[in-house]
Amino acid sequence: MADSSAPREQWQSHWGFILAAVGSAVGLGNMWRFSYLTAENGGAGFVVLYLIFTVLLGLPVMLAELTIGRGARSGPIAALEHYGGRSWRWLGAVFVAAGFLILSYYGVIGGWTLRYAFEAFTIGFADDPGAHFAVISEGHGSFAMQVTFMALTIAVVSGGIGAGIERVARIAMPALFFIMLGIVVYAATLDGASEGYAYYLNFDLAKAMNLDVVVAAAGQAFFSLSLGMGAILTFASYLPKDSDLANETIVISFADFGVAFIAGLMVFPLIFALGMQAEITGGTIGALFVALPKAFASMGAIGRLVGGAFFVALVVGALTSAISLLEVIVSASMDAFGWERRKSALLGGGAVTFMGMASAYDIDVLGAADTIATNLFLVGGGLGISIFVGWVMKDPIAEASGGGARSPALGVWRVLLRFVVPLALIGILAQSLPGTWATITGLFGLG
Ligand code: PFF
Repeated sequence: MADSSAPREQWQSHWGFILAAVGSAVGLGNMWRFSYLTAENGGAGFVVLYLIFTVLLGLPVMLAELTIGRGARSGPIAALEHYGGRSWRWLGAVFVAAGFLILSYYGVIGGWTLRYAFEAFTIGFADDPGAHFAVISEGHGSFAMQVTFMALTIAVVSGGIGAGIERVARIAMPALFFIMLGIVVYAATLDGASEGYAYYLNFDLAKAMNLDVVVAAAGQAFFSLSLGMGAILTFASYLPKDSDLANETIVISFADFGVAFIAGLMVFPLIFALGMQAEITGGTIGALFVALPKAFASMGAIGRLVGGAFFVALVVGALTSAISLLEVIVSASMDAFGWERRKSALLGGGAVTFMGMASAYDIDVLGAADTIATNLFLVGGGLGISIFVGWVMKDPIAEASGGGARSPALGVWRVLLRFVVPLALIGILAQSLPGTWATITGLFGLG
């Protein structure tokens, strides 16, 4: 058990928490995953579905995680036990397992972004980005960059909540935002940018009605908001009792959607203006890492600057998200084994890096891990949380309002958690299960 005499760490300020939580939400999901899924699934129809799921499923589950975390003041396993008894610890353990799985490949992609940022400012973008990506995305090079990225993540988490995570988020998030805005403005000035906007903002109803697109949009909402695995729950466990959780929910969720939307305004005009659309509409994992460098390479010196800035933004987003993934594992092991923070970060981060070798050496494993983590763990985890808070927890409305006024909106929240969210998530899980199962059997060579 953790040393209960040591006071629990806390965020140093309200904005520090908001920036750290937005830092968790905003990451590769908003740029890499959002762009390639939007391209693959036909543009605006996908974006609208993703927005609907952010509101209908994301907001209630986010408030549920914040409520559990702030009330229990512990990592996910102990938090579920706090409100549901020992028989609910398994759900917290599933969250920690999901954190392991996601961070294992997230660190690999983080390593790619680090390499591209570094190369932009040193040797420039490769003449043949497709061949370059094939070399750096698998093998020793990929693993070496994963280790570097994970070392950074471990270093920040070792620094603690206020002096490590919050301090980085306070600098990183505003920087990310300004870099992105700068690139959006620059991209708008390019000839042919309008074709990119047309592709991005064109609504294709037939595509949006496709159930696979619906599943992808729901998974993306959970992934992008960092929901369904206790990351937001864990961050909330360092909040003071008097924080306004409904307000935090709205700020974090819309900031996350806003950044994804802005990422589209950055990526699509750049790619279309430079004629690289064939590279991205295939919707593969590597799309962004091939199409954009091609575009940057064809822009000359300014391309190195804009491209370098772009990949720095990506590194920053990836790092602040990876931090939150590792924090889930660290806080759970501090609770369970009484380890100190540095030891937890080193051992937990080391184990995740080791597991991630499978993705660093094989991009198909990476893709499979992403499908399994999102469609099964995050969507399933969201289902678990909604059932837990909707049906098991005693008076969640009182917990969420922290003893303040019981606003009618919280009544709506409870109804959503009891009926709407679980039913929607069961439908989404059922629809995605055959595909996810095929991915699992394929991964282990059973298919
Ligand atoms: N939300 C992050 C992103 O969009 O890149 C990824 C993520 C972080 C997912 C933390 C889940 C999580 F718990």
